[in-house]
Amino acid sequence: VQKMTEAELYSVYKGLYVPAHLHPPDSLKYCEDFTFRPDDILIVTFPKSGTTWMQEVVPLIVSEGDLTPVLTVPNWDRVPWLEEHRAILLNLEQRASPRIFATHFHHHMMNESYFKTKPRVLYVMRNPKDVFTSSYHYYGMASYLVNPGTPDEFMEKFLDGKIMFGSWFDHVKSWINAEEKESILYIFYEEMIADLKGSVEKIAKFLGKSLSPDVTEKIADHCVFKNMKQNKMSNFSLVPEEYMDQKKSEFLRKGIAGDWKNLFTEAQEQRFNAVYKDKMKDVTFKFMWD
Ligand code: A3P
Repeated sequence: VQKMTEAELYSVYKGLYVPAHLHPPDSLKYCEDFTFRPDDILIVTFPKSGTTWMQEVVPLIVSEGDLTPVLTVPNWDRVPWLEEHRAILLNLEQRASPRIFATHFHHHMMNESYFKTKPRVLYVMRNPKDVFTSSYHYYGMASYLVNPGTPDEFMEKFLDGKIMFGSWFDHVKSWINAEEKESILYIFYEEMIADLKGSVEKIAKFLGKSLSPDVTEKIADHCVFKNMKQNKMSNFSLVPEEYMDQKKSEFLRKGIAGDWKNLFTEAQEQRFNAVYKDKMKDVTFKFMWD
């Protein structure tokens, strides 16, 4: 597939690049007008931070370990992105509570209904060096994203927020500074890697679900990387190769913390650290990777 330029592939929405093909104007309008319910569950991420993983974990917590939803419904319909073209088609207004959605929006991009209703939010964060690394491979295989170029070139775009959904730094800062903290659970990709069972328990508790140890175990076992990778409803194998060429790089690629060490040169690490230090200088929030 011939890769195109930013101008051809992306549109600019509220100052950020979004893949035009996935987010036509009517979808963005739908998202702006969307009415939330207080018991909605929103999975919020900067892309490549663990969205798909949570699209597996959260429905299983809600279903109390019944695998039917994750084995029969593709992740993008099971937990639709509100800003994506498919949301309009899914009759979300008719869905039974608790509805589960995903979004890559920054905090200030959320609509009026969000701020009025304050649905429950799971904000998933990942070491930005690994977000970069995962993105680098992903931009190389998805035809609706601009070719990443060399790691050096892509790093400048990443650090400058000239990629889909803008700056990782702005995204994270916007959500950690949210006022409605009592309705947000902050969770790290790295903590899910370190203790998936504990993370399932923590998320379940936040969602007001008490799960037996057996059910917790079952969910964690299903969601561990090597098992989840086999689920064709979640590994994006249903997406035609012209959109995602998984022969180049799989969507469920490595699933580890610290893969950036296999990509970054020392100079790149220093460059990244310097920008991180500057952009995060006023932040007091404790990140797991610091
Ligand atoms: P890698 O490319 O580093 O492997 P998103 O879903 O937000 O696009 O994020 C994708 C990243 O999450 C990919 O990272 C993917 O492999 C990882 N991921 C998805 N499911 C996972 C799981 N069950 N365990 C660990 N990592 C997972």
